[in-house]
Amino acid sequence: MKKLNLPGPKAKALLERDAKVISSSYPRAYPLVMDHGKGVEVWDADGNRFIDMMAGIAVLSTGHSHPKVVKAVKDAAENFLHISSDFYHEGWVRLSEKLDEIAPFEEGAKTFLTNSGTEAVETAIKLAKYHTKRHNFIGFFGAFHGRTMGSVSFTASKPHYHRGFYPLMPGVTHVPFPDEYRPILHRKLGEDYGETCVRFIEEEIFDHNVPGDEIAGILVEPIQGEGGYLVPPDGFFPALRKLCDKYGILLIVDEVQSGMGRTGKWWAVEHFGVEPDIVVSAKGIASGLPLGACIARESVMTWPKGTHGNTYGGNPIACAASLATIELLEEKYLANAAEVGQYTMDALEEIQARHTTIGDVRGKGLMIGVEFVKDKNTKEPNEEIRNMIEHTAFEYGLLTLGCGKSTMRFAPPLCITKKEVDEGLEIFEQAVTMAEKEQGLR
Ligand SMILES: Cc1ncc(COP(=O)(O)O)c(C=O)c1O
Repeated sequence: MKKLNLPGPKAKALLERDAKVISSSYPRAYPLVMDHGKGVEVWDADGNRFIDMMAGIAVLSTGHSHPKVVKAVKDAAENFLHISSDFYHEGWVRLSEKLDEIAPFEEGAKTFLTNSGTEAVETAIKLAKYHTKRHNFIGFFGAFHGRTMGSVSFTASKPHYHRGFYPLMPGVTHVPFPDEYRPILHRKLGEDYGETCVRFIEEEIFDHNVPGDEIAGILVEPIQGEGGYLVPPDGFFPALRKLCDKYGILLIVDEVQSGMGRTGKWWAVEHFGVEPDIVVSAKGIASGLPLGACIARESVMTWPKGTHGNTYGGNPIACAASLATIELLEEKYLANAAEVGQYTMDALEEIQARHTTIGDVRGKGLMIGVEFVKDKNTKEPNEEIRNMIEHTAFEYGLLTLGCGKSTMRFAPPLCITKKEVDEGLEIFEQAVTMAEKEQGLR
């Protein structure tokens, strides 16, 4: 393994130009200056090669520039670039038919296509208000749903998303997400911790604060992404569904990060045997083309003409990329995410056993989080070592990304092979060892 000299001269020059003209608000992780990519490999402006285990924040489901996706994009672009959502075209209908086929509920689905995850979340919020004629919502601590005014009101993973932007959208009450590694609520004897968190909503929020029958929707990530790749216990979703049914609340799952095959099923919520009312998707849906979707039960998406729209919704190029992506997932990558995901999880658990700073390894399919701690008993988060490892891994040719307070996420393209996982994890473990030495822990 060779240490790369980063950023190289071309990358450095671009960083200087970037700093002058691009909004300073972007949370840049490390100085990767992309030149081109192929599958799971990335090359930077100076010709350095990397193994990509973050896929542009869980976006490149079929890898970088999959030939089938590129061809679909080229063919669509040659045909027409845009017609606006005031009109009709075949690709848009075909994609919506496909989403109806794979939607995680029996009932027929209708879809509103957007340009991003946050716009899809905004759509779900508006739809839930319109459909229920209610204005209050439940969201979760640690959640990430986007940065526009509605979605950011639900986002609660870091205070800097809110600082300077008050007042937010009114009517959102946050409750604890069932983090079994760090539970904050008192569970009854024998109770599943997911059920504890749902009981908290009913007994503490509905009984003391907001009446349950005035709640329009509960917006939840089936596996929290930005919040730390947290997988809820099995009892959580069934209890949540029951609560929603009892009070006439819509269950809205944000599958922007966890959906489109990442966990080895089309939707992460399917792991928990529960059917939601609205699904929000984006990121992996089109292998990198800007596309999002708000997919709802047909009995919910009944709003009349003119209530909601957009200019670029159903963009023909994004639709073509999405259809090609879905075909590839169906053919092989969905199964690959499950198989190679398990392989990666097993390998990370073996690495965990060799290192004192890895407190937890969790996830489903190729959505895996590794949490770093100062001490496995106290579970005190070790943010510093996570950041060091992220940077060292980069310097040795591995792209990863942090999430939560001290977690590193592994969200590679779903086409990754076991051999590529081995290569990436060898660099990862070396980075862990180096960081532990630096902290005087070995
Ligand atoms: C779960 C979840 N919801 C919503 C969003 C927002 O998506 P976008 O950045 O496309 O607006 C993200 C982005 O990271 C996400 O992870």
